[in-house]
Amino acid sequence: TATHANREECQGWQETEVMMPSTRTTKRYRVEDLEEAAQRLRDGAAIAFPTDTVYGLGANALDPTAIARVFEAKGRPQDNPLIVHVSDPTKLQRVAANVPEIARSLIAAYWPGPLTLLLPKSNSLPPSVTAGLSTVAVRMPSDPIALELIRRADVPIVAPSANLSGRPSATTWEAVVEDLDGRIDGVVCGPATRIGVESTVLDVLHEPPRLLRHGAISLQTLQPILPEIIDASHGSEAGHGATPPSPGMKHRHNQPKARVEIWDGADREGAANHDKGSRRGWIGVEAPPASVGYAKVVVCANADDYAAQLYETFRRMDQAEIDVIDCQAVPRHGIGAAIMDRLERASSRA
Ligand code: TXA
Ligand code: MG
Repeated sequence: TATHANREECQGWQETEVMMPSTRTTKRYRVEDLEEAAQRLRDGAAIAFPTDTVYGLGANALDPTAIARVFEAKGRPQDNPLIVHVSDPTKLQRVAANVPEIARSLIAAYWPGPLTLLLPKSNSLPPSVTAGLSTVAVRMPSDPIALELIRRADVPIVAPSANLSGRPSATTWEAVVEDLDGRIDGVVCGPATRIGVESTVLDVLHEPPRLLRHGAISLQTLQPILPEIIDASHGSEAGHGATPPSPGMKHRHNQPKARVEIWDGADREGAANHDKGSRRGWIGVEAPPASVGYAKVVVCANADDYAAQLYETFRRMDQAEIDVIDCQAVPRHGIGAAIMDRLERASSRA
């Protein structure tokens, strides 16, 4: 269509509304067909792929048109910068101006893995990748499919979570399709992701070092290397108009259509007394109170399993037309801090 053609020509064009008519054919790539997906990524396509954490929506980090396509497909606010993914630490030269000593130690200890580091941005990166910031967020994922795809593409790859902005992140390729079919060029149909929540984001350029987003690499894990580290993941709430340390944190996050309620141990029996008329769902590491008639129940083996199942559960509960999801609180250590952070963001209706 003419509208479509105009959109292709205009690099500065940005989508503001989340829902728009589907115009693209989203190709399903088998994991055996990574070479074709990698070539198209290099040539400017937006293709989703599995990582160790969640599915990412990949694009060539050196191509401003491809980056614009990612913002458009997700309905992502322009001021929310992207994470650049590399297949090897030696590829950092193309994205970072330099790599400070402390970042080198963290890379040696945690890459490949769910740790994103802020580095001084290289001038060759388009400004839209970092939303105009002087720092770039970078990580090397540990998933073999992700690594192989990025290695074959032979360019750094931006990959925000492959969901519509504000929706729960996608941990399966089917969830990617649910949000982005017709809006992106392809999806690599790999297995469900192992970790299930997004990477830890760390700023070691700042003194003291700041944790910007909780993830599988916990504050306690980082403390031996970074004894001064502070938890700045709630920066936007405390900031009162100040620039949040991580711009993404001020936006709506991971929200299912259902209302999310967090239940700690003491309150758990209280679930019985809530809105008798609503269809309720439960996710936790224990069975729900027997007194509440839950329409859908997910009992996880442990906190790791909780993290792995959380976003998919949100999506399944929406499909089952659940009104309220009772989510059991877990202790805030290890992956538990990331679970509680995501639950709090999902439950806020600000
Ligand atoms: O696990 C992950 O990190 C996944 C997978 C696909 O790799 N990606 C992901 O990307 O979660 P996204 O775009 O959904 O989240 C990126 C987060 C946002 O909160 C963003 O604000 C922050 O990283 N971020 C990116 N660049 C930044 C920068 N230069 N300074 C501060 N925060 C930054
Ligand atoms: Mg995201």
